[in-house]
Amino acid sequence: MTVAGIDLSDTAFWGWPPADRASAFALLRAQQHPQFYAEPEVPFSDKGPGYYALVRYADVAEASRHPDVFCSGKGATNIADLPAEFNEYFGSMINMDDPRHARLRRIVSRAFSPRMIAKFEADVRRTATTIVDDLLATGPCDFVPHVSARLPLKIICDMMGIPDDRYEMVLANTNMILSGSDPEFLSEDLDVAVTQILTAGQHLAELVTGLAAARGQAPGDDLVSALVTANIDGEQLTSAELASFFILLVVAGNETTRTALSHALMLLTEFPEQRALLLADLETRLEGAVEEVVRHASPVIFMRRTLTREYVMNGQDYREGDKVVLFYYSANRDETVFADPERFDITRSPNPHLGFGGAGPHFCLGAHLARRELTVMLRELLTRVPDITAGEPDRLLSSFVNGVKRLPCQFSG
Ligand code: HEM
Repeated sequence: MTVAGIDLSDTAFWGWPPADRASAFALLRAQQHPQFYAEPEVPFSDKGPGYYALVRYADVAEASRHPDVFCSGKGATNIADLPAEFNEYFGSMINMDDPRHARLRRIVSRAFSPRMIAKFEADVRRTATTIVDDLLATGPCDFVPHVSARLPLKIICDMMGIPDDRYEMVLANTNMILSGSDPEFLSEDLDVAVTQILTAGQHLAELVTGLAAARGQAPGDDLVSALVTANIDGEQLTSAELASFFILLVVAGNETTRTALSHALMLLTEFPEQRALLLADLETRLEGAVEEVVRHASPVIFMRRTLTREYVMNGQDYREGDKVVLFYYSANRDETVFADPERFDITRSPNPHLGFGGAGPHFCLGAHLARRELTVMLRELLTRVPDITAGEPDRLLSSFVNGVKRLPCQFSG
């Protein structure tokens, strides 16, 4: 393998076997400077100027800590700039800078506080129990729809007050928005793909606008009610802000947690001694296992930033307007921070992974919820089906989400 043979913008690269991908990033980390790549083709915009791939932990952490220099407002989740028509549905706080970002995050954080999350703890437990009941009744099956996809979807929908009969619609539309380049979900015809993504956004926006109108009249105990009801400072989301925040939540909260759960089963299968260690003392070791799953899986592979001015970082000069891509997947494998990084080690301590982003204003709003979901689901699963193992995964072809589309599972119970 040579540096010249690695093209992070080539969709085919993301279909390489995971071990080869990991070796490629190790080789990139060993280079003195970040590599510069031409941008991949995207359906919604002209090809941009290219980007630097930040693959070392120190670079990713520093860029996250300096949002005044490394801004998100031109598109954090995409390498290409977001065109105006996309902003209507996908322009929420992940793609904003201060002061707009701070204002939105302030409003939303209140409604998304640990107290609010704690209210859903019993719901998470009940859902996890039902999922495992159903799994045992079904027998060996595809773990993704039967387990991984169910919990995050149900929890987000319950939090938002979305009725059960709309779950499938929410799932189908988020799959489309986050499918990357996988032809299973999105047309290979770029123009058709743009329409598909925008239509998915529109459907989700209509769903939440309808809910918001109803909750405005008769507020309930859900997040939408909290968001549409004026709060102490009189700050409130506009209906457009509510729609794009909702889309961000369902997209950011579903696929990521689902991916982590699928990887958890794969990792416990690949590293049976770690499973034995975990089962020997589930209560003490589960927290470490969850962190290590998020590090190893790195469900969100990257986020992007744009330089607002000239800057020198770790010996590399950047100019205003340069794009950089923060590869969390690679930072989480940086051998200067994580010894033997490909090893899944539930006792790794400290484990300062960047799976939820680096310290900074955009650090994952849902990290606390995701940790609760993963902990509760894994506890329920490993207590009742301790010998469950994964077969060969069918992986999502995407540079953005380290997703798993199908995952056969086996167990004796
Ligand atoms: C294992 C699961 C998850 C992973 C790996 C993950 C990862 C991330 C990452 C890497 C970021 C940083 C974005 C940036 O720096 O530009 C982020 C932001 C965010 N996440 Fe998560 N996430 C997870 C679960 C969730 C859940 C469950 C929710 C909500 C219910 C959520 C909502 C958000 C939101 C709203 C942001 C944007 C925050 C901001 O821009 O201020 N995430 N997430």
